[in-house]
Amino acid sequence: MPEKSGIENLLHETRRFSPSSEFVAQAVAKPELYSEAKADRLEFWAKQARALHWHKPFTKTLDFSNAPFASWFEDGELNVSYNTLDRHVIEGRGDRIAIYFEGENGDTSTYTYAQLLTEVKKAANAFQTLGLVSGDRVAIYMPMVPEAVIAMLATVRLGAIHSVIFGGFSAESLRSRINDAEAKLIITADGGYRKGKVSALKPAVDEAIADSACPSVKAVVVLKRGGNEVSWNQNLDHWWSDVVDSASPEHEAKAFGAEHPLFILYTSGTTGKPKGILHTSGGYLTQATFTHKNVFDIHPTKDIYWCTADVGWITGHTYVVYGPLANGVSQVIYEGTPDTPDWGRWWKIVEKYKVTILYTAPTAIRTFMKLGREIPDKYDLSSIRVLGSVGEPINPEAWIWYRDVIGGNNAPIVDTWWQTETGAIMISPLPGITATKPGSAMIPLPGISMEIVDDAGKKVTSGGGYLTITEPWPSMLRGIWGDNERYKETYWSQHPGKYFAGDGAKLDTDGDVWILGRVDDVMNVSGHRLSTAEIESALVSHPFVAEAAVVGAKDETTGQAVVAFVILRSDQVAAAGSDSDVSKLLRDHVAKEIGAIAKPRTIMVVAELPKTRSGKIMRRLLRDVAEDRPIGDVTTLADTSVMSVITDKLEAGATD
Ligand code: WTA
Repeated sequence: MPEKSGIENLLHETRRFSPSSEFVAQAVAKPELYSEAKADRLEFWAKQARALHWHKPFTKTLDFSNAPFASWFEDGELNVSYNTLDRHVIEGRGDRIAIYFEGENGDTSTYTYAQLLTEVKKAANAFQTLGLVSGDRVAIYMPMVPEAVIAMLATVRLGAIHSVIFGGFSAESLRSRINDAEAKLIITADGGYRKGKVSALKPAVDEAIADSACPSVKAVVVLKRGGNEVSWNQNLDHWWSDVVDSASPEHEAKAFGAEHPLFILYTSGTTGKPKGILHTSGGYLTQATFTHKNVFDIHPTKDIYWCTADVGWITGHTYVVYGPLANGVSQVIYEGTPDTPDWGRWWKIVEKYKVTILYTAPTAIRTFMKLGREIPDKYDLSSIRVLGSVGEPINPEAWIWYRDVIGGNNAPIVDTWWQTETGAIMISPLPGITATKPGSAMIPLPGISMEIVDDAGKKVTSGGGYLTITEPWPSMLRGIWGDNERYKETYWSQHPGKYFAGDGAKLDTDGDVWILGRVDDVMNVSGHRLSTAEIESALVSHPFVAEAAVVGAKDETTGQAVVAFVILRSDQVAAAGSDSDVSKLLRDHVAKEIGAIAKPRTIMVVAELPKTRSGKIMRRLLRDVAEDRPIGDVTTLADTSVMSVITDKLEAGATD
């Protein structure tokens, strides 16, 4: 069980933050949730599911007889788009603002629930005209604009399945995702605004599908957003404005089975190939809606909610699109980066829209903390009443700063642990109930059963181990797209009968959970999951590289940073040039192969890599080098002198 330094100090954290009595008095989540779920877990979830609109009510809650494949609410039928839109309009909430959009370039627009529904109906009709039918896959590669949400909801309205691909991924990544899912339709934009410039998207789509590389694609819909020139393929391309704007605003949402696939979202695993995580309709929407409402204390008529995640990640799916819209709350969507035109942008948005609930990642909080409180202090943030954190462990200093500077020393913080695979939040305090500890995600939500186990699979009651989930949950992944075996092997084989999350965790003496981070070869950089194997294979695909090893090294701002060790091919050393030339070239190569988010922070050219006698690279030792620590135990190395060869070279200053 790998140890992360500093955790022992965290476990002695004695500060407790209880919600104020005013907060408790108005809180959505009541303590009975825990006792109800404990008394009858399945009935608890059935009750939450009944809060949705079912075209045909379900009679069965869970079928896990074909474990680890689960079915929830299987004989029920619903339409997810209907639940997030039509329902509000029919029940008289159509005039409520669904989205306040703030473009990075200063454009703004608002959509009421009724307007959003009309746009979704038009888009659904347009997609249908382009040949989309239930079960087809749609790749969405868009900037963070309302049309991204509209495209997602129009897709699922038809029973088709979206695969949103974050705009920061390269043409290569796009191509492999389009082909893995055999997408029929691609929805993209000319470009979007990022860091004060237009960042083009369409060229990556063109490159991905060039030379019939993606034979499943029958049409590409292009939103005009960046205004940049794009090349045009008459046979495939359609402007969004041509096909959607003129489409009929009438569209009836048909019911689909609760287990009808809803979306695929690719995420990095321990092997080179990203996994298409599959989520289905009824269970996913149940848990998305329940957790959003209770964890963020949603009062739909009063709150202005803002989750800063991009829809390219699971947080954007569950807590920008499905949860908030199902709960009928008003939310802010911001297109760009927090530093444009200056680092006050987010706080200006909070002040302007009077944001009451803010959900973001520790990496952003740490960045703001480093820049100093003078920036947020210039803005009126007094509207904020709940703060959320997600994506990586939050260190107590950042937690306290967040609460103090952004939350006016009053707003409860919900540190939410979950994953692409879990679909929705699994561990979190409930504001108004839980007295929180800075740095702890506290306890599993009602209806969620988890255990921390040791190497032998035995439950630990205090101390560290592997984080596992012991009972199926409604929004659990239903599999890996096209690879049932990999699903069983990846998540259910290490600890039989239990889902293994890939994270290590510790319990303190009160039974509260402290997440230690990944124990596998997955890195977490700025809250984004990256696979060491995927970056290694990108590196070795370059003709200069003979071998590569990648580790996640601690980084003050981004949590972890990608550090790569490469051995050059002996016949290429001269061509490769200086270490810093090679480093730049390989960083760009990784950006091209995977995307800019995967670029190593540092590339070290080395003569050898530390390996065990069986040839396994000892990343632990490389992490010691990357984090500038004394090198740990080298006795299991095949050649114990390797580490001094590496460190001697680095000490001689021949690094990146
Ligand atoms: C990490 C993001 C500590 C964890 C929703 C997990 C966290 C991975 C937290 C999933 C948290 C997420 N505290 N670590 N509150 N939330 N993680 O799939 O390692 O992008 O396994 O989903 O992020 O990342 P993913």
